[in-house]
Amino acid sequence: MHSSGTRTGLSSKPRCSPTSQIQPLRILVPVCGTSHLSEHLYDVGFKAITNIDLSEIAISDMLCRNACQRPGMKWQVMDITTMQFEDESFDVVVDKGGLDALMEPEFGPKMAINI
Ligand SMILES: C[S@@+](CC[C@H](N)C(=O)[O-])C[C@H]1O[C@@H](n2cnc3c(N)ncnc32)[C@H](O)[C@@H]1O
Repeated sequence: MHSSGTRTGLSSKPRCSPTSQIQPLRILVPVCGTSHLSEHLYDVGFKAITNIDLSEIAISDMLCRNACQRPGMKWQVMDITTMQFEDESFDVVVDKGGLDALMEPEFGPKMAINI
């Protein structure tokens, strides 16, 4: 692991080239399951999304659901405890489990205040 990297492969560097050409934001969605989150992100313009889940069935279903409609989105069977990405592979990790908790009507507002 490089000193500037993390175990998740998150990058701390801005995604701009020296010529200021904006690079697509590289997003990792761990434990994607069959959630629609990535599809919604893709449809609003975030095209460089990698989704991982332990379940071959979930990943296979998502590939079938998205291969034609959302080309370029990646789906990989992978355990989040043993991820195989290079350092600085991603700019953002979207943890839907955490978002779900924050959006829970009963607990969400209290949790969000503590962020
Ligand atoms: C309750 S589902 C939630 C899926 C998705 N985040 C959603 O909100 O619909 C839990 C998912 O976690 C996946 N999972 C469990 N352990 C995992 C691990 N170690 N690495 C990757 N995925 C895992 C399961 O395969 C399953 O798809």
